[in-house]
Amino acid sequence: MPRFKLSLPAPSEITTQSIFSQRRRLLVAGASTLALAATPPAWASPNPRLSGRPSPMSSDEKPTSAQQVSSYCNFYEFGPDKDSPSRHAHRLQTHPWQVSVDGEVKRPRTFGIDDLLKLAPLEERIYRFRCVEGWSAVIPWIGWPLASLLKQVEPTGNARFVEFTSLADAEQMPYIRLPLLDWPYVEGLRLDEAMNPLTLLAFGMYGEVLPKQNGAPLRLIVPWKYGFKGSKSIVRIRFVEKQPSTAWMKANPDEYGFYSNVNPAVPHKRWLQSHERRLGEFFKRPTQPFNGYAEQVAHLYAGMDLQRNF
Ligand code: MTE
Repeated sequence: MPRFKLSLPAPSEITTQSIFSQRRRLLVAGASTLALAATPPAWASPNPRLSGRPSPMSSDEKPTSAQQVSSYCNFYEFGPDKDSPSRHAHRLQTHPWQVSVDGEVKRPRTFGIDDLLKLAPLEERIYRFRCVEGWSAVIPWIGWPLASLLKQVEPTGNARFVEFTSLADAEQMPYIRLPLLDWPYVEGLRLDEAMNPLTLLAFGMYGEVLPKQNGAPLRLIVPWKYGFKGSKSIVRIRFVEKQPSTAWMKANPDEYGFYSNVNPAVPHKRWLQSHERRLGEFFKRPTQPFNGYAEQVAHLYAGMDLQRNF
């Protein structure tokens, strides 16, 4: 990743918490009806509403303002600066959109985005988000557990990992022409990580479809790992036998490991991992092992040396 410039948003850019909470109360009230109706959103219009039933797996921490999360982004296909994605991602055509699910599966399938959205009941999950560069956020995502999709295609006995490939289209994504990474953006999870109930396929955030700069029309969310494991604008999900070679591992294997579990005890070469700064806050706070999700996921790594398997 290019060197990190810390630039906190100006106070005038921050949406007040009371506006978000008000809207959230309304959403929670109407959530069950809306979630069941599951009408495909009007993808073409800017950020149409999308809601999900509130999940008991949500954090009760105060969400970061939507404005900050959608203006301070990493999406290298649209440029290396934090504000490049919000300036350039409007070029991305998110409908029609297809996602193929294949590889070591008995029933490979290609889903259109509208069908995929309806595959399982949408939930709103408020998760902590931790970027390897030292900033963090609390984000209300809308999506369903990835396991709901994976079970549908029936992985074979050879499937040990899941690989996620993002769109790489130079017509829509101007920075694909530059060798910032070995495109397309590829990430991967071990099969048990992918099947963990916390792992989410997200279509929306803050009660709307995902803004393009945040990975529309669908992205991966793995809240106990650093944010770069959360592939944006996914077009292919492939079950494989061998550990996938990810874009960041190819770019810099000493800095980016396959597991990338949030771990305050394992420093990164360039960024402090013991503490983090929430977007919109001034003081740093200590980072928690597995980003605070140890109870749910630490067992996945029992017996593993997490200093070596970083
Ligand atoms: N997915 C793609 N396709 N391209 C990217 O550059 N950046 C990753 C991840 N997913 C990235 C991506 C990184 S480095 C982070 S920290 C998160 O997206 C940022 O998500 P956010 O911008 O929504 O906060």
